[in-house]
Amino acid sequence: MRSIDDLDVHGRRVLVRVDFNVPLDEDAAGGVGVADDTRIRAALGTIEELRGRGARLVLVSHLGRPGGQVDPALSLAPVATRLGELIGTRVALAPGVVGERVRAMSEELGEGEVMLLENVRFEAGEKRNDPALARALAELADVYVNDAFGAAHRAHASTEGVAHLLPSAAGRLLEGEVRTLTGILEKPAHPLVAIVGGAKVADKIGVIDRFLEIAEVVIIGGAMCFPFLCAQGHAVGESLCGVQDTEHARRALARAAQPGHARLELPLDLVIGERLAADSPHRVLDGVEVPDGWMGLDIGPASAARYAAEIARAGTVFWNGPMGAFELEPFAAGTRAVAEAVAKAPGLTVVGGGDSAAALARFGLEHAVDHLSTGGGATLELVEGRELPGVQALEGTGVAGGVGS
Ligand code: 3PG
Repeated sequence: MRSIDDLDVHGRRVLVRVDFNVPLDEDAAGGVGVADDTRIRAALGTIEELRGRGARLVLVSHLGRPGGQVDPALSLAPVATRLGELIGTRVALAPGVVGERVRAMSEELGEGEVMLLENVRFEAGEKRNDPALARALAELADVYVNDAFGAAHRAHASTEGVAHLLPSAAGRLLEGEVRTLTGILEKPAHPLVAIVGGAKVADKIGVIDRFLEIAEVVIIGGAMCFPFLCAQGHAVGESLCGVQDTEHARRALARAAQPGHARLELPLDLVIGERLAADSPHRVLDGVEVPDGWMGLDIGPASAARYAAEIARAGTVFWNGPMGAFELEPFAAGTRAVAEAVAKAPGLTVVGGGDSAAALARFGLEHAVDHLSTGGGATLELVEGRELPGVQALEGTGVAGGVGS
């Protein structure tokens, strides 16, 4: 995969695909602000390096899912403001995604200056990878850099189509994500311990299967442990437990029982509640037989201690998905224990984005892991072994004239 080291960017307009799909909220002045700027900060390395090399930056991102039409609530205006604060210079927001006015703006950019296109998903052609939109994007720049790891699993015009039309390369963030995640799959320090949590087995079965093949231990937590416990014949009470998930779990248990596969660790005890609410009656259940009228909402203390011990012994840890309903204090202890164990683990620690990142942030531990991925779906797809179209497009031969031309 080409990197920005391979591109001549001085004085050139560089179209940089970033993933600024960030949560918004009300700011201090009653306007719309950025609630969590982690993804914006993650792209600063590439942005600052390109500015330092005299590039003229045209940034492009999506925000939310506006369905191919303009939705003022999903404008990137608050993101342009926040980015401007972070890099200490004005970031002009384009009046749209493509077109004459936008192109004129791109041509007026000086060296080191930055503009941001409006939400690329305001264009219907983005998600269907419309060649006309890819061409219109390509007209805004001389070279293309993809640093949007979080959107690399999407074959869209701004992540895939345009990469074939300009000399193109990976930005530092995308490069680092792919190197780290590929590294733990291909050459992990052993033992490799994967902790997989979250709500549904179906969403993570590809990840579980991959780690059953390559890891020593696969730890299961969160609501997705109930289909596993159900498949083993335990009572699950009112816990989340779909038929399809139970079938996936049954097959995963069978695979884990075959020689050469990882040991699958399931909870030994639980925290149960009557309702998914902070004020619900709740108690620690010694064992995993959930009574009728109760639901499992966290792993119990014995499970947390056992999981922490596995994490402490690991050469490499991959964690994706919380152990319980950690946003509600009565059900946060299991996820907190795992987060703390990952934070102080001596091995290499890699955390998949989304809920696990939110959990680390809640416990103030987001800086205590070796790699916190900015990807959600992209991280899972890469770990599963699927090709990411946004990455694959950078591995092609590029346009006639070659890289840097
Ligand atoms: C994400 O938040 O995971 C990425 O920005 C991709 O967003 P999407 O799922 O709407 O394509």
